[in-house]
Amino acid sequence: MEIIKVVNPQMGGKKAFELFKASIESGAKTIGLATGSTPISFYEEVIHSDIDLTDVTSVNLDEYVGLSRENKQSYAYFMNEQLFKYKKLKASFLPNGLASNIDEEISRYDDILTCHPIDFQILGIGSNGHIGFNEPGTSFESTTQLVKLAPSTIEANARFFDTIDEVPTEAISMGIANIMAAKRIVLLAYGESKAEAIYNTVHGSVTEQVPASILQRHPNVTIIVDESAGKLI
Ligand code: GLP
Repeated sequence: MEIIKVVNPQMGGKKAFELFKASIESGAKTIGLATGSTPISFYEEVIHSDIDLTDVTSVNLDEYVGLSRENKQSYAYFMNEQLFKYKKLKASFLPNGLASNIDEEISRYDDILTCHPIDFQILGIGSNGHIGFNEPGTSFESTTQLVKLAPSTIEANARFFDTIDEVPTEAISMGIANIMAAKRIVLLAYGESKAEAIYNTVHGSVTEQVPASILQRHPNVTIIVDESAGKLI
């Protein structure tokens, strides 16, 4: 694992963009994208650059169950606001949180991932060590699945909703095995609330109780942290 410490999220976004640009220049055709507040400074760098993504396909990590694409809290809406409305990509995929048949939606998404192997994956991390929406206890062998959000995740994400009762309790998420299949992974973490998760990811034992700890077994991972998130490593 390569660790890069930056002074703030803006610098983290710039560093992540450098790595992203290098991957695109060396032929990356499929990018795995993340939501949450953490990757926003990275997306800002992308949209303010002249990088050409018209030949690049994106696949997102996850989507809440029960929210439409028009719902401002949905990850589809987030991606449109942060990236897609500014940069043209060849195609972009997210799980459909309104699918009437979740099992079919899950196999559709796994098929998409099979057809579009991820060259470059951006990841955030939950304060409990989750990646995507793969909560502690998720099997390292998991592929796309329906997940129940941990109470701590619902609490953490409530800041984006009017009340905590509006936060969906389920999501469709790429599994850990899908994430590990990416050729290159760049994980971003900022702020003190991520410090323990980052310590456990980098120095802890590899355990399903800390989903991100599996990244120790990936051959090409870079972790970009600010001083607070990196204060224990
Ligand atoms: C959600 C997303 C994750 C993200 C995490 C952290 O749970 N599913 O992909 O990494 O939130 O969010 P934030 O970056 O806002 O701290």
